[in-house]
Amino acid sequence: MSVSPQCWAIIPAAGTGQRMASSIPKQYLPIDGKTILEHAAYPLLEHASIYQVIVALNINDNHFSQLDFTDKKQKLRNVVGGETRAHSVLNALESIKEEMKPDDFVLVHDAARPCLSYMDLDRLIETCMSHDVGGILAMHATDTLKRAEGNQILSTLNRENIWRAFTPQMFKFTILYQALQNALQEQIVITDEASAVESLGYRPCIVEGSSLNIKVTCPEDLTIAEMYLNLNKRLST
Ligand code: CTP
Ligand code: MG
Repeated sequence: MSVSPQCWAIIPAAGTGQRMASSIPKQYLPIDGKTILEHAAYPLLEHASIYQVIVALNINDNHFSQLDFTDKKQKLRNVVGGETRAHSVLNALESIKEEMKPDDFVLVHDAARPCLSYMDLDRLIETCMSHDVGGILAMHATDTLKRAEGNQILSTLNRENIWRAFTPQMFKFTILYQALQNALQEQIVITDEASAVESLGYRPCIVEGSSLNIKVTCPEDLTIAEMYLNLNKRLST
């Protein structure tokens, strides 16, 4: 067994995709011959620094077992997810906690982000491995940002220090586990892993990533994701 910290990955895939409003959960919709979940999982399954990938599934899931991960199956596990994304991630953490060493890292990547590039994943892992807390892929905000009440603009925000948070988000296991447990116990509103970690006073780092790493949310995102996947393929060859 290796002595250096190991990286594990969790894919929360227990959502039902309400905004997509499709007949099956959005992570199982096909793009270019593979499901969105497979596109999201492959960069993690193929990365040499990632030891195991744990997918959190909806309790009623009957699609995952039909996917064919061929030679990557030995690197893949699944657990039952929870009521919210944070519960799903926490369930996955619980399932591996006995195997974790104190310095091991966990990457969390949305099942609904099929366009993660190897280059971004590599940079995130390399940067976070030498960070005390961990960090996230993010992109500078490019639009002008308004604060409003109803449809009345109150002010324009300074966007200089504003970032859009993507996934993967990578943290030391012990910090992420404590942060999610605490956030759920204290009913702190968290929308990503970083917000849970921040709520304990930690300062994760930002790794600038590509704008192609979108989260597929609504039907129109399917066409965009297909274009971006092909663009990623062209950029990596
Ligand atoms: N997720 C999860 N467990 C939940 C809710 C969401 O694992 N209880 C996962 C989703 O499957 C997705 C990721 O968290 O991969 C990001 O969530 P989102 O894009 O909001 O997906 P859904 O919750 O499925 O979509 P919607 O909010 O439109 O219902
Ligand atoms: Mg959701």
